[in-house]
Amino acid sequence: MDLYHKDVVSIMDFSKDDIEGILDMAEEMVPYAKGEKIKRTLDGKILGNLFFEPSTRTKLSFESAAHRLGCNVIDVSEMSMTSMAKGETLADTIKIVDAYCDVTVLRHPFEGAAKLAAKFSDHPVINAGDGAGSHPTQTLLDLFTMRQSKGSLDNLNITLVGDLKYGRTVQSLAQALTKFGMNITLVAPESLQMPKDIIDHLEENGCHPTTKVFLEDAIADADVLYVTRIQKERFPDPTEYQKVAGTYRIDNALLENAKDDLIVMHPLPRVNEIAPEVDETKHAKYFEQAANGVPVRMALLNALLGGEL
Ligand code: NCD
Repeated sequence: MDLYHKDVVSIMDFSKDDIEGILDMAEEMVPYAKGEKIKRTLDGKILGNLFFEPSTRTKLSFESAAHRLGCNVIDVSEMSMTSMAKGETLADTIKIVDAYCDVTVLRHPFEGAAKLAAKFSDHPVINAGDGAGSHPTQTLLDLFTMRQSKGSLDNLNITLVGDLKYGRTVQSLAQALTKFGMNITLVAPESLQMPKDIIDHLEENGCHPTTKVFLEDAIADADVLYVTRIQKERFPDPTEYQKVAGTYRIDNALLENAKDDLIVMHPLPRVNEIAPEVDETKHAKYFEQAANGVPVRMALLNALLGGEL
C-alpha cells in the first residue's frame, strides 16, 4: 500500500488492499488514539480543516487524529469568515490553504467540491463530505467497525436503511462493499431509493442488491443493520421531507427478530431513527463507530503524509 501524497476524493480511489492496509494500521493506532501511548510521527506538519457544513464527529476526529500524531491544525468553519464571502472562488481559497498546509480536509455543500479542490492543490485533499456526493473516510471507519465486530468483512449480510438517495455515507459504503462480496439489502421509502448510478456500479461489480420497503422484512438475516438519517437539508421541497420523516425507527421490539449477533450502526447524528433504548443492547455499535473515527483518520493521515511508524 502506497498512499503517500494521494488525494482521497472517493472510496473508489482505494483498492481492496489499500483499504485493508489502512484498517490494519488503524488497529495499531488504537492505543495512541486513546492516549495510552504517544506517537508523534507527523510532528511539525499542518492540517487545514475546512468545514463549510455542520459537523461534530468528522471535524473533531480529524482534529483529534492530527493532534495525537503531533500534527498542527488550522481551521475555518464558516464560509462567511473566509474571503469567499467577498466573492473569492473555492479554487482560489483552496490554492491559498494549500500553500499554508500539508493536507487539506474539506467538507462542502456542493457535490464535486473535493474533486475541484484536489485539482487546485499540490498537497493531498481529503473529502470529508461533498453535498450528497461521497464521504470516503466515514466508509473507512464503518468498515473498521464491522471488521472489529465480525472478525472479517467477507460475505456478510448488510441491510442499508433510510435515506439512500441523499445519504453520502451510505452511497460511499455501498461502493466499498462490492470489494468484499457482501450481500446488500436496501430499505428506503420509494422517493429515497439508492440512485441508479450506484445500483449500476453494484451490479457491474457482481453485487445484486435486494430492495425492500418494510424494515421488518429485512431484519432476520442481517449481520449488520446500517441506519441513516433522512437528510432534511438536501430536500428541495420541505413538504417532501414531511412525507418521509420518521418512516423507520429501530427499537427493541423490532430487534427481537434479529440475529443474536446483529450489529446496529449509524454514522450519526441520529434524529429519531434509533430509539435510545437500543443504546443499552449488545447490538448498538454507533458510539464505538464514532470513536473509531480517530484511529482510522490517524492511519490515513499518517499514510498520506508519510509518517514513519
Ligand atoms: C454524516 C454526514 O455528514 O454525511 N455524518 C457524519 O459525517 N458522521 C451523516 C449525516 O449527516 O446524516
